[in-house]
Amino acid sequence: MENNRRTAGKLHYTLPSPDSYPYQWLWDSCFHAIILSHFDLEIAKEELRALVVRQFKNGMIPHMSYWEPHQDTFTRIQWGKRHTSSITQPPMLPVAALRIYQVDSDKAFLKELFEPMKRFMDFFLNERDPHHHNLVGIINPDESGEDNSPRFDTVLHLAPQHRWEENFKRRLELVEQNRICKFQTACMENFSWVRDVPINAIFVENLRRLSDIALILGDQPQAELRAQQAEAVAAAMRRYMLHDGIMYATNGHNYHRIPVKTWALFAPLYAQIYTPDEARDIINKHFNNPKEFKSIYQLPTVAMDEPAFNPAGFASGPDWRGTVWMASNWFVYQGLKHYGYDDEASAIAEASRHLIKKSGFREQYNPLSGEGNGAHNFTWGGLVLDMI
Ligand code: GLC
Repeated sequence: MENNRRTAGKLHYTLPSPDSYPYQWLWDSCFHAIILSHFDLEIAKEELRALVVRQFKNGMIPHMSYWEPHQDTFTRIQWGKRHTSSITQPPMLPVAALRIYQVDSDKAFLKELFEPMKRFMDFFLNERDPHHHNLVGIINPDESGEDNSPRFDTVLHLAPQHRWEENFKRRLELVEQNRICKFQTACMENFSWVRDVPINAIFVENLRRLSDIALILGDQPQAELRAQQAEAVAAAMRRYMLHDGIMYATNGHNYHRIPVKTWALFAPLYAQIYTPDEARDIINKHFNNPKEFKSIYQLPTVAMDEPAFNPAGFASGPDWRGTVWMASNWFVYQGLKHYGYDDEASAIAEASRHLIKKSGFREQYNPLSGEGNGAHNFTWGGLVLDMI
């Protein structure tokens, strides 16, 4: 964490990986704050403070902030603006801020972030849910944090097996479309509009934690409002995403189901959106199934019997097509714990520790061999500290 820390004026933030990701990234910084809350509260707070500096007028927090002046020209992606990207990532700020508060009871810190956090959550409700269905829609796969997950193959018109370059080219084309649409959902809903499972589950959980924060700050009406919003999103997930006991992402106006089995099946456990019976079935039929998700090193991000499953990962870049990632492991670990599946949670925690001992802090790992892949010195592997 220390080696990857950078300063920009008075700001401090942590790079996900100096060689591969030399910027500040939104959900990475929230994970960093959770990791840092175990041993350096002041730096954990700085990580979140830096995140909100470049919040947009409409409340969006961009998924990348370029703090070094030369980085604007260095970046390969044209966002139509300087200093930041123009898309977002799953909103983990309230969870991360509350974790810090739970250690030192610093209300002033919560108060400092309260307005930006409210505005960020409102951005999702105002801008990413144009028809008021209570579901967040994403306008580019990268907003899920799982850039090339097979959940997005249909919107990108890609076959289950393809090269990283093809995937990246299609996503760049989509950014072009995003730019034409001025990054507005009302326009993008005609091209790529995925109501995805993890981001909505994460949204529910973070609305609940924002409600907790409002209570701590003595704002009862906000606490009630955020709790109601959380339950409305949870109910909409059940209504539009649940099919035969599994929640699937959907695309477009008519909620066209995307029936590919990825770790997203388990993401609703994180926000306790499945009933206990549904959770039991999902865990027995899928999590503990050696043909699907019970690999030697859990948890593959894509079921092993999916045509898209690629245990080795793309040679040249991030790969959410089967390799193990520590962030998904952390979400599923938390979810399993919520429902009392301690053995399964321990299996994930142990696999995570084992992978780091065996292959170091890598971006992703092969679920069959445990080999590391992608970026080196990748910080969010520190989430193992939080899986005990
Ligand atoms: C990759 C990941 C994304 C992460 C970023 C920086 O793009 O897919 O989730 O935020 O790297 O680590």
